[in-house]
Amino acid sequence: MQAVILVGGEGTRLRPLTSTVPKPVVPLVDRPFMAYMLEWLSRHGVEDVVMACGFLPTMLREALGDGARYGVRLTFVEEPEPMGTGGALRYAAEQLPGGLGERFLMLNGDVLTDADVRAQIDQHEATGARATLGLVPVEDPSAYGLVRLSADRKVAGFLEKPKAEEIDTNLISAGIYVLEHSVLDLIEPGRNVSIEREVWPALVGAGLYGTAHEGAYWLDIGTPDRYLEGSRDILAGAVRTAVRERLDAHGLARGEACRVDGHLRGPVVLGDGCVVEEGAVVGPHVVLGDRVHVAPGATVEDAVVLSDAVVGRGSVVRGAILAAGAHVGADCTITGHAVLGEGVRLGAGNVVGHGMRLFPGVELPDGAVAF
Ligand code: GDD
Ligand code: MG
Repeated sequence: MQAVILVGGEGTRLRPLTSTVPKPVVPLVDRPFMAYMLEWLSRHGVEDVVMACGFLPTMLREALGDGARYGVRLTFVEEPEPMGTGGALRYAAEQLPGGLGERFLMLNGDVLTDADVRAQIDQHEATGARATLGLVPVEDPSAYGLVRLSADRKVAGFLEKPKAEEIDTNLISAGIYVLEHSVLDLIEPGRNVSIEREVWPALVGAGLYGTAHEGAYWLDIGTPDRYLEGSRDILAGAVRTAVRERLDAHGLARGEACRVDGHLRGPVVLGDGCVVEEGAVVGPHVVLGDRVHVAPGATVEDAVVLSDAVVGRGSVVRGAILAAGAHVGADCTITGHAVLGEGVRLGAGNVVGHGMRLFPGVELPDGAVAF
């Protein structure tokens, strides 16, 4: 089975993590986010994956290579300009030397899931559908594509980003689609087309079905809150991934050449060359990238600290994200889903919280903010 993954979005809601790195390459625990999607698809028998790219495709190529280490063969298609979700699919189909097959999968490129794709394909075949949408329940469907499902699994209505008064179900489109080749005929070539706004509504009553993935793990990782949630869930084993198998009986996994004089409380994943100094406490639910330095007496809890970042003496990082090379001075407090972008430098005694996002290049002197 062939799959097309849409990865052309700019990932604006995940800035500053996506200010310097495209969303599919943002590290999640110990691998680029896209690795989880590829490993998941590979487990379900997908061999060929087409990445429909726009923004910063070179970094994606470099991070993923030919896909062999994830068990798939990767092909990259680059749009000259964003074509929208439908336009990107049509464009990819036209650019591929062999085109797309009679039946294939399409995926949104920002979902962390262990949903049973095989069951969705089986249902698609059994009903003779033209398109089958994977569905999951969420508390608030307003940021998603709402799907009204009939008892016979036909889609009775599709509403992208529904208004409050239109919400009458909690089922949404999970960004997992099984499609017949003929769906491409519904997408006009050469223009920007939203598959959610133009194609799914047109297919209601004309071969559009839904598979409810009950009990599956599913998360769109596209905001800092959800990125942290995804990291925590991977460490806790709430979603089936290859990471959980790396953790020992204490919930710990460490890379090579780490020096830990402080205390680790699992689940914790350390990259290579990390240093946790005397009196520092790291965990639970912490990811340290490669060469992270946690100074004496510092506390890091429920947090992601990417490669080459430094947490200064006595500082507290809790419920926050430090991008690569961020440098936190002594006695700082970073909490409340704050995000420090790549290379941000904070002097001593700064207090950052309440979802504050500091963009790459920002430098603050000692005691500059209390937020
Ligand atoms: N190649 C390409 N070109 N990809 C694109 C483009 C484009 O012009 N625009 C968006 N994408 C990719 C994004 O990178 C992402 O992987 C996927 O398409 C969906 O775009 P998002 O911007 O993340 O959409 P959303 O999260 O608001 O809504 C979509 O996903 C929901 C589930 O998370 C919709 O498909 C909803 O219906 C769905 O419920
Ligand atoms: Mg999304």
